[in-house]
Amino acid sequence: MSANLRVLFSAEQIAARVAELGREIRAAHPDQTLTVICVLKGSSLFMADLVRAIPGDVRLEFLGVASYHGGTSSSGAVQITQDLRASIEGQACLIVEDIVDTGLTMDYLLRTLAVRGPRSLRVVSLLDKPGNREIEVAVDYVGFTIPDEFVVGYGLDLGELYRNLPYVAVYVP
Ligand code: PRP
Repeated sequence: MSANLRVLFSAEQIAARVAELGREIRAAHPDQTLTVICVLKGSSLFMADLVRAIPGDVRLEFLGVASYHGGTSSSGAVQITQDLRASIEGQACLIVEDIVDTGLTMDYLLRTLAVRGPRSLRVVSLLDKPGNREIEVAVDYVGFTIPDEFVVGYGLDLGELYRNLPYVAVYVP
């Protein structure tokens, strides 16, 4: 392991929490086919594990999103780069994120998807960083709440690297 990484959540801790989340999410959607929406790219690993922890019927959808609010453009500049393949009208939907940070991406996604008429629209995020919020968003299920530190691994990147780590670590420059 690189000297710049300090493990925050081990693979075992993540697996245990994902199993709990899967049960909790199914309990909230009994007998419903759940449309699970993976927000690319960061949530791909979490989504793959989470859907195996949700008993019963699920559909998988993928949404590509580009966020520009880390740069010089105005806040809330989020754009869909790859839309869902299917309509979500009338469906029980779950947005899967790896992290909610400023909240700008999730705020945009909730507003954008809500108008498509889903039966329900809930949010699960592996990580929640409430100390950095710029806009209030409702996150229905949170894996772990974290302090305002830069984290990588289990889908989260630094310059596209580290996504393949099986754990979540703080990156110490
Ligand atoms: C990350 C993460 C969320 C967003 C959260 O995506 O996956 O989509 O940032 O940040 P926010 O709450 O401040 O809006 P990123 O833009 O890094 O893309 P990636 O998932 O492809 O790594």
